[in-house]
Amino acid sequence: MYSPAAMSSATAHQHDPINRPIVLVGLMGVGKSTVGRRLAHRLHLPFADSDQEIEEAAGLTIAEMFEKYGEAEFRDGERRVIARLIDGNPKVIATGGGAFMNEQTRTLILEKATAIWLDADIETLVERVGRRAGSRPLLNGTDPREKLKTLAEARNPIYALAPIHIHSKPLPHDSTVDQIMKALGR
Ligand code: S3P
Repeated sequence: MYSPAAMSSATAHQHDPINRPIVLVGLMGVGKSTVGRRLAHRLHLPFADSDQEIEEAAGLTIAEMFEKYGEAEFRDGERRVIARLIDGNPKVIATGGGAFMNEQTRTLILEKATAIWLDADIETLVERVGRRAGSRPLLNGTDPREKLKTLAEARNPIYALAPIHIHSKPLPHDSTVDQIMKALGR
């Protein structure tokens, strides 16, 4: 039987951005893991962190993986892990800062998930990466401010392909979660 109410609710259901995985992309230090975990909690969804999944699969930290096998091998693992995590089930996924640069990964995320670009000023990123100094091989032996600036210039146009863009202020991460909830219509 034709029911306009049922139709419109079915349509709304289909377009609900949380009916598919929500994938956080953006530079190191922006807070993808912390924000992602809290967002998942608020939405009552499971949470996965691609860096952590890679570390568990390899039995090595990312720093050890870069050192032992090199960046290319890490990137290959990252691509495979994210393809496994995007399985059609609603969840929140935090990705490593370089994941969205891979064309295959990016296409998969854009087609099968709701991508959110989490962005912050360089100063905020510098302060935040300083809290876990040494854990990010791309920053080793560099001036983090300069390196983050270079990465932002190269990567921001690509992150900008994500349909949702959230600028994270130097405030507690919960305010970023609030902004995301609003963008998701929650
Ligand atoms: C990287 C970001 C890191 C990690 C690896 C490489 C990058 O993740 O995947 O060190 O290329 O930007 P976070 O963004 O969680 O720090």
